[in-house]
Amino acid sequence: EKGMYDHFMLKEIDEQSIALRNIIQKYQHEDGETRLDSDIRTVVQESDRVYIVAAGTSYHAGLVGKQLMEKIAHKPVEVHIASEFVYNMPLLSKKPLFVFISQSGETADSRAVLVKVKELGHRTLTITNVPGSTLSREADFTLHTFAGPEIAVASTKAYTAQMAVLTLLAVDTARVSGIELDFDPLQELGIVANAIEALCSQKDVFEEIAKTYLMTTRNTFFIGRAVDYYVALEGALKLKEISYIQAEGFAGGELKHGTIALIEEGTPVIALTTQSHVNLNIRANVQEVVARGASPIILSMEGLEQPSDTFVLPRVHEWLAPLVAVVPLQLISYYAALHRGCDVDKPRNLAKSVTVE
Ligand code: M6R
Repeated sequence: EKGMYDHFMLKEIDEQSIALRNIIQKYQHEDGETRLDSDIRTVVQESDRVYIVAAGTSYHAGLVGKQLMEKIAHKPVEVHIASEFVYNMPLLSKKPLFVFISQSGETADSRAVLVKVKELGHRTLTITNVPGSTLSREADFTLHTFAGPEIAVASTKAYTAQMAVLTLLAVDTARVSGIELDFDPLQELGIVANAIEALCSQKDVFEEIAKTYLMTTRNTFFIGRAVDYYVALEGALKLKEISYIQAEGFAGGELKHGTIALIEEGTPVIALTTQSHVNLNIRANVQEVVARGASPIILSMEGLEQPSDTFVLPRVHEWLAPLVAVVPLQLISYYAALHRGCDVDKPRNLAKSVTVE
């Protein structure tokens, strides 16, 4: 039920902090540490490479998951779009583990890959919000995202929950491999939950951004570098699917290789900067588009901010920044769609689960 909300999407954006706290609680053991099922632990440990397969927003969570697995657990990961993987299979490693990420657990493109790799005898794990779904039943193992039912077509809380579970998977793998971590992941996820709550209490700021920049525009760009690029892809998908504004996510340094030709006077460019090692690089990219007339909307993380930034996000561990940085993008998309008179929860041409290939 929507309760006091006009739309499920806004309710689900607000529920993200609750979902994270749920995940922390569900995966925490008596000794305060995270422990995954020992069979899952073994299968990850035994694999020499993880292949993440997913579609849409879940694919974007997979891109962040790769970073987390490689940085935290030193495990090599490839991320594939499900519909491409089936017909264009890469050369596999000797002991691959397939990880399917799917909110619904019913996405036909992902299932086609699952069926294929099972035939080849490979091990499979599904990360889903719906245990008992097809992808969960048919895989060897399941990790539940505990986000609660997601009704709006635009995925929000499932995405942050997927990234949180991927963090725990990475942390658990690191622990088994004897890799020392210099942060407490559950505590950091708690800080993320607080940060999301703080952002959700400032919705008027993001409504104002949407009203100022996105009411009449035909196109918008989202840019970021490193993991911010992956969040930019998600921000663009969110905006286009519910507001029908042409939106593209780009790696900041790539614009000058062609796309910058599209920048005109007043084109909104939403730039994310949450990663200290590329803060100056992305700011240089913002200057490049501003010089061509773009209207920049800069979202930076506390500690990296500059006076001209549009909004400063609460500080969290840099590796977990995507979970926080996506929230303003979800809210900006929501308000853009709302004020452009779009059907926020049921955008045209889309279904909640895509059960055809
Ligand atoms: O249920 P799944 O996570 O497998 O769905 C994958 C995509 O269809 C889904 O994320 C889609 O991109 C959303 N509408 C995005 O908001």
